[in-house]
Formats: sequence, structure tokens, C-alpha cells
Amino acid sequence: MPSFPTLSGLPGLAVLRAMARDRSILAGLAAMNKHLGNAFQITLPGFKPIVFVGPESNRHILVNGREDLVWRTESDPVVKLLRHGLLVEDGESHDCMRAVMEPTLNRTAVNGHIGAFWECTADISAGWAEDATVDMLVEMRKVALLILTETVFAVDFRPEMERLWKPVIRSVEFIAPGAWLLWPDMPRPGYKQDLAELDEYLYRIIGERRAVYAQTGKLGDDLLSVLVGYEKDGKGMDDDLIRDQLLTMIVAGHDTSTALLAWALYMLGSHPDALAEAQAEARAVLSDEPPTPEQLKELTYLDMVIKETLRLYPPLPVGNRRAAQDTEVLGYPIPQDNRVMFPIYLTHRDPELWDDPESFCPARFDRTQTKSNPPAFAYIPFGGGPRNCIGATYAQVEAKVVLGKILRDYDLELMPGAIHPHMGTTLEPRPGVKMRVRRTKNS
Ligand code: HEM
Repeated sequence: MPSFPTLSGLPGLAVLRAMARDRSILAGLAAMNKHLGNAFQITLPGFKPIVFVGPESNRHILVNGREDLVWRTESDPVVKLLRHGLLVEDGESHDCMRAVMEPTLNRTAVNGHIGAFWECTADISAGWAEDATVDMLVEMRKVALLILTETVFAVDFRPEMERLWKPVIRSVEFIAPGAWLLWPDMPRPGYKQDLAELDEYLYRIIGERRAVYAQTGKLGDDLLSVLVGYEKDGKGMDDDLIRDQLLTMIVAGHDTSTALLAWALYMLGSHPDALAEAQAEARAVLSDEPPTPEQLKELTYLDMVIKETLRLYPPLPVGNRRAAQDTEVLGYPIPQDNRVMFPIYLTHRDPELWDDPESFCPARFDRTQTKSNPPAFAYIPFGGGPRNCIGATYAQVEAKVVLGKILRDYDLELMPGAIHPHMGTTLEPRPGVKMRVRRTKNS
């Protein structure tokens, strides 16, 4: 069996240099990929993940080897936070929960949310003063949070936004990669109060929904209502399990969208031709009213901008699994309990798969032009296989509506300043995306 190349000597220095230059773990992974190939092992004290890059290994990890390569590692902060949330469950309990939740996020359900996507964007952008410079990383987080809570929980989050802003951000920070990877049981002071405040809110809205159900016997078709109304063999779901799904949705469903929206605006702001084309399209297709699904289909250029942004800056840049038992990936041995990582970011920039991979080129997703598509599992911003992103349709429609509305209503100018991809829980444009916004006439 082949063994894994690891770093030593000069390539090790090159990796450290790349990480220092770009201030990014991803730059380090990219340098290792260059020096060691598409299968290698990181060998730090206490942290020895095996890393695979490329469509073949992606397919194996996500589909064929799914039973052996599981999500859950009890000591990871994401498991401590989400407990039994869909994202961190495996096997049957994952598949059962997924089947309950899926109908609330399918295409029909998402089409029913287009009006909310539009109105929430209008609400947040109404707070932008004329000619002001706003940070789109912050503004898109407000939009994404408002949208998620309004559509997935059917609650009005506006009165809570200010109070819960920090608790939400802290919940996301709690699970970001950090020193705990080397020291799994390290103390994590400073989170308790914020996480408790978020929990208090989630248990409250669960209780309120139960009360409405008890009084009226009626429930909506949003996720919170479906979980409250769930019953199998005469048994419902308890508050703890519902809380785990709601927190999973907050974490997985708003931080990712925030990153996508902020990166897309940054890419448009730094590519004036693309901005002009996307803006012209939005103004030709969209009106004062929320768009219909058919109108959204006409936003073909914006669709390509979103896809290309997800290729260059996948909000979840590195996938992670644990070997439940001794297993193999493409003939390489993986010992039980070893971590396996699949950096989506690197597959998306592999020169063997993409022409000019570092360039922002929306036209590469032009279905009428593209001669050869990259192979399956070469483009996986939403993962793949049975546990691909449950919110993939939702997120893409949401991005089209939010960006379409902003492009229609505003002229945008990116303010100068360096931006780097920061790998927190998601890949974010840091320190932010400062844009001057001017409302266009007639909007
Ligand atoms: C641009 C936005 C988004 C991106 C790029 C994204 C990406 C992903 C990826 C890559 C996975 C698979 C992770 C893995 O296999 O390890 C995933 C799973 C998941 N996503 Fe998303 N996501 C986005 C938006 C959303 C939204 C809006 C929601 C909820 C409304 C959501 C909820 C989830 C959940 C619950 C899972 C776990 C699914 C399962 O294990 O069955 N995501 N997402």
C-alpha cells in the first residue's frame, strides 16, 4: 500500500513562507498540495489529518466510502455545540432527520420564500444612508440572519437582531478551526454566557410555537413548525432535539450565505465589466415587485457570477471526516479515528481541471458556450452525495434575489483596501467589503 508523503526540509519552509505571506492556512495547504501531490498527511503534534484533493477522492469520501468516513468526532466543538443537529449526525439517525427536514427546503418551499428574500433585503438596505460607505460583510450577515429566521423559523428576528448579534457571532466563532485542533480538551472560556443567551432564545421560540399549536391545532410549513408537529409511533420530538436543529440551521444556514454574498459583491466591485453586466441584467429583468421564479431564471449572468464566486471562494473551503474504522481511500490506508480532509478550495483551483483557475471568469459557467465541463465532483461548493447541503437550492435562490435587488437598486463602488480570505467557520473576505452605495433613480 502506498504511504503518505509528509513535509520536511525545504518544502516545509516553502509552506511556512506561503502561510506567512498570505496569512492563510489555505495558502499552506495549497503549497503542500503543490509539493506533495493530491494525497498527503499533515504531521503536527496531535493533529495528523490525511488530505485528499481532486474529484476521484471527493467522490469516494462523499459517496462510496460514506459509511466508513463519518462526520462526528465527540471532542470537536461543532459536536459540543450542535449536539444532535443534522450536520453532525451519521448513519440512520442522520438519514431520518434529513427526511423530516428536506421538504421544508425543497424547490417548491424555496420558491415560496422569494418574497421574504426580497423584503428582508429591502429592509436592511433601507438603513443605508445615501452615498454612505457600508461594510457588506456586516450588511450581508444582517440580511442572511433576517432571511433565515423569517423563512426557516417563521419568526420576526428584527426586535432580537441587536441583542443576539454577538451571541450568534460567538456561536460561529466557537466552532471555527483553532488551537483546539491540536489540543482537543483545551478550556474555551468566554463563550458560556453568549451561548446560553442564544439557547434561551431558541427554547423560547420552540415553547411559543408549541403554545400556538396547542391553542389552534394549526402549524405552518416552516422547519420549526414541522419539527414541533413531528410525530412517529405516537412520540414527538423533544425541545432539546429541536433546539439542536434550529442552532444547526443558524450556524450552517446564515454564515455560509453571508460569505457567499459578501464575496460576490467583492468580486463584482473589483471587476467593473462584470458589475456593469450584472447590473444591466438586473435592471432589465427585475421590477419593483419581488421576482417570479421565471424572472430569476432570466438572471443568467448573475447565476454565473454566483457559481464562479462559489468556485473561487467556497464558503466551506475544507471538508472533514473521521475514519470510523480502518479503511482505504483510493488505495491509501486510513487508520481508525484518523481525520480525513478534502479541501474543496484546492479542487476548485486545480489547473488540471480548470483553465486559468485563479481568474474570476463567470463565462466558464456559460452552458451555451462551454465545450467541456469539469468532471463530476470537481465542483462541490455544496458538497455531494447523500449528505450534500440541504440548503443548496435555498442558498442559490436567496443569493440571486438578494444580489439582484441590490444591483437593481444601487450603484456600487468598492473602496480601496486589501482583502484576504480568512478561514474561520466559513471563508470570509476580511477585514470586510467596504462599498459606497448610491440609490439609482427610479428604484
Ligand atoms: C452559500 C451557501 C452555502 C454553502 C456554500 C453550503 C455548503 C455546504 C456544504 C459543503 C455542506 C456539506 C458539508 C460536508 O459534507 O461536510 C453543507 C451541509 C449542510 N448545509 Fe449548507 N451551505 C450553504 C447554505 C446553507 C443553507 C442556507 C442552509 C439552511 C437553510 C444550510 C444547511 C446545511 C445543513 C443542515 C447541512 C448538513 C446536511 C447533512 O449533513 O445532511 N446550508 N452545506
